[in-house]
Formats: sequence, C-alpha cells, structure tokens
Amino acid sequence: MRVQNHIFSVWRQAALKFGYEEYEGPIFEHLELYTGKSGEEIVSQLYNFMDKGDRALALRPEMTPTLARMVIQKGNELRKPFKWFSIPRLFRYERAQKGRLREFFQLNLDIIGTESISAEADLISAIASMLFDFGLTEKDFYIGVSSRRLLASMLEKLEVKEPNLVYPLLDKRLKMSAEDFEKELRSVGLSEDKAKKLNAFMCCSTIEEIDSPELKELFELLKAGGFENCVKLDLSVVRGLAYYTGIVFEVFDKNKNMRAIAGGGRYDNLTETLGGQKITGVGFGMGDVVLADLLAEKNLLSQKKSNLPVFIASFSGDMKILFETAAKFRKNEIACSHSLNAVKFGKQLEMANAAGAKCVVFADGEKSKDGVWEYKILSSGEQGVDCLEKILEAL
Ligand code: HAM
Repeated sequence: MRVQNHIFSVWRQAALKFGYEEYEGPIFEHLELYTGKSGEEIVSQLYNFMDKGDRALALRPEMTPTLARMVIQKGNELRKPFKWFSIPRLFRYERAQKGRLREFFQLNLDIIGTESISAEADLISAIASMLFDFGLTEKDFYIGVSSRRLLASMLEKLEVKEPNLVYPLLDKRLKMSAEDFEKELRSVGLSEDKAKKLNAFMCCSTIEEIDSPELKELFELLKAGGFENCVKLDLSVVRGLAYYTGIVFEVFDKNKNMRAIAGGGRYDNLTETLGGQKITGVGFGMGDVVLADLLAEKNLLSQKKSNLPVFIASFSGDMKILFETAAKFRKNEIACSHSLNAVKFGKQLEMANAAGAKCVVFADGEKSKDGVWEYKILSSGEQGVDCLEKILEAL
C-alpha cells in the first residue's frame, strides 16, 4: 500500500501539474459497452456476469469506453476541449504473469474535443515529466510514436487488400527476422516486391525519412518542451485496441525486458460507434504493475516505513499528558502518535523508531513548558528545546 500510495501521489500531482481534472466512473458497465468496440483481445479478457435482473454486465477492463459514454451523456454541457484524468481499478481475465495481473490500477489522461496535435504533445510531455518525477531518466525509458493514418496510407499505396490481417504482423515484426516477416506478409497475400517495400518502410526510424506533417509538428512541440530525447519514431507501435485512428504511442523500458509501461493514442470515432455524436479524443493508460517493477529495479522505491513527523514520549509514562500534548500538535496540523500503554521511556523510543518517526518530543521533559518542547531528531541524535514552528523547521 505504501508503494501504491507513492505511485498514485506522483501520478496525481503530475496530472494536476498539467491541468487535468479528476473523474471516476462505475466499476462495472453493461457488457455491450465493450463487445465489438474495444477489439477482440480485450473482449476475450472480460470478467462478465449476469446480475439478478438478467442484465449482462462486465467489470471494466479499461476506462476509455466509460469516458466515451460519459462524454456522450453530457453532450454539449461540457466545454471542449477538456483534459481529464482518472486512476481506475481495472480487471482483465488474462494469464497472470510478470507485468500483467488480473486486477490492477491504471492512470488515464485524456483530452476530449480537439483535433490539434498539441493534445498529443501535451499527453506525451506529461508522461515524460511524470516518469522524471519518479526519478527515472532518459536512459531508463523511451516513448515510441507512430501513426495509424501513416501506416494505413502506406498499406493503401501498396494496394493491400486486407490491412486488418497485416496490422498484427506489423505489431510482431521486431520479434522475427526480416525474412520471416516478409514470408508472413506473403502468406496474407502481398507480392514479394510489396513485402520488401513494406519492410523497408517499417525500418524508418527518423522523422526525416517519412512523410508525415503531423508527426513532424508533434516532434517539434516535444522538442520545445525539452522532451526530444524521450521520444522516437517507432513504426512497430501499432496498438492492440481497435478504436485508435491517428497517432499511437507506447512507453517501454530501454532494456525492453518488460511489457509496455503505458500506451495510448487518438480515437476519432469512439463516441460515434457508441451511438453518440462524433467527438475526437486522445489519451493514454499507464499501469501500476510494470511501473512498480521498473522503479524497484532502479532502486527508486524507498524502503521508508512511514512519514510520521513526531512521536510523543513521556518520562513518567503518564497517559493523560500524552493525549494532552498530542492534541496540541494535531491542532497545529502536525501528525503525531504515542504509546497507548504506560510503558518505560526506553520502550517508547523503540516504538518511535519502529513507527519511522523523524523526531521524539518529550511531553513532560523539564524544559517542556510555556509553548516550547524538548525534542530529539532521531536520524542525527540532535536534541533541542523549541516552539512547534521551529521544531518543524528542524524536521
Ligand atoms: P492498454 O494498452 O490496454 O490501453 O493498457 C495501457 C497500459 O495498462 C499498459 O501499457 C499496461 O501498463 C497496463 N496494463 C494493461 N493490462 C494490464 C494488466 N493485465 N496488468 C497490469 N497492467 C496492465 C488501454 O487500456 C487504453 N484504454 C488506454 C487509453 C486511454 N487510450 C486512450 N485513453
């Protein structure tokens, strides 16, 4: 829970720093919100059930359909564009393995109602910025960016008849040799020449090699924010979800021995597919599982027990003076704790250490009177006598 609280607090602060507003939704939805709209993979991973009123429901496997449903329901009441975030608990019936569990949390940031590529730039900047806030650096992660539109137009140029058979191959391309990739392309109907051309196109790794004004603009905006070293063109990023239509991106650890840390992209038609008017959106989800693994690997999850600033101790073991002193500290918004039994002083110090307290205040110390307190900082052993504000400063 300490690890989770740390992750959530960095996530929330980063989202607020970028001006996103928090929302929540119900933990289960009508099954039909997902079937056919999210893509086969997610549908096969649903936890679904019938309720007592014979309604087919599912535990939410992702937040984006809920967000789209809420946007449709509020319609024109919402001033667009708007930037929202949420930290939902999600459920997917997939094989539990390293980086993937059946129950997890996912930070979602989404921007609804603008076609501007600045929205993608805002989201990707937020990802890089929050990963820095966790203590990671450009050496630890990268954000691979691609464009479904660009891939689609390439497939169109090559007159590929069944692009939907080709996308999964593009997604798997880096896991096989160039020969195998071309062989697979030929098995879904591409000629040798076209398979070679497609492979050559997929090898492009810089913006200069491709013709995409929107990707160029995106990379310029990211450079202006100082995030150019966090992103790279990666045409193998295709994304498994069916609703993406434009820019797509995925975040990986640089050693690439973990699953994706985050993924997202632009979805132009989701509200329309769900029966509402067409409103464009773009966003991403970042799970807590891979992130926690990566932070642990880089020694960025502190082992600190808690953040208790003050433990109040009494030489005489007088319970009343402990309650009286603690009340004074808490009135001043200083968190504190104390023994719940009248025990020896040495035992109270042990308890202070075990609670991870920064400082022990001696409630009935000789000099603890008239608004000043005797105290001891546990990390340095430094002792003093001071008023509350000064003690806090010393902490
Ligand atoms: P997704 O790629 O399915 O996208 O998930 C995004 C991230 O959630 C993954 O990169 C991973 O960190 C985490 N994740 C997914 N499945 C699991 C699991 N079983 N256990 C632990 N973590 C997991 C979406 O969900 C989109 N709805 C994101 C989005 C928001 N697109 C636009 N807005």
